Amino acid sequence: MEKPEYQIREMLIGDVSAVASIESCLGRTNWNKQLFRGEFDLAPALRYWLIAALDNECVGFGGISYGAEESHILNVGVAIGHQRKGLARLILKQLLEWAAEQGASTYFLDVEIGNTPAISLYESFGFEEISVRADYYGRGRDALVMHLQR
Ligand SMILES: CC(C)(COP(=O)(O)OP(=O)(O)OC[C@H]1O[C@@H](n2cnc3c(N)ncnc32)[C@H](O)[C@@H]1OP(=O)(O)O)[C@@H](O)C(=O)NCCC(=O)NCCS
Repeated sequence: MEKPEYQIREMLIGDVSAVASIESCLGRTNWNKQLFRGEFDLAPALRYWLIAALDNECVGFGGISYGAEESHILNVGVAIGHQRKGLARLILKQLLEWAAEQGASTYFLDVEIGNTPAISLYESFGFEEISVRADYYGRGRDALVMHLQR
């Protein structure tokens, strides 16, 4: 069988509904359509969002912010049927490259404690746990703050 040909490209405003729908199918409530759309109101030099597409259908996404030499991974998600194919790794790699081109050398992110797939992904890029934000995702749902310097 032929290997599916995924494309990684910059997110367009027309992708917002598909991206919000993936986020919701992943059972996540942090980002909704309005928040994703709001990203397009911000200066392009401060935010970068990518999607992964297969036959023009959005199957994954990720975003990063940049400011004052510091960068934050905002979100990463891959639709369930397309996970474990290296898409998040590809997206994250390109997000970090974009931020480095803007001048970033310090990277942060928040991830829920117990989210092993995401934590393993971030650790594979060298991110390390630096602190915990209690109840960050709701009562009893703490966030790990992870940091990468490079
Ligand atoms: C986390 C997530 C984005 C990973 O996406 P993905 O495209 O499946 O990840 P990749 O295929 O690029 O995997 C890259 C690495 O991540 C880690 N990883 C991914 N899925 C994993 C799993 N189910 N269990 C353990 N490690 C996992 C592994 O280190 C993997 O490398 P390997 O395949 O060489 O072992 C995906 O599971 C997802 O969308 N989860 C729900 C949304 C979410 O929690 N986002 C994080 C926001 S902080």
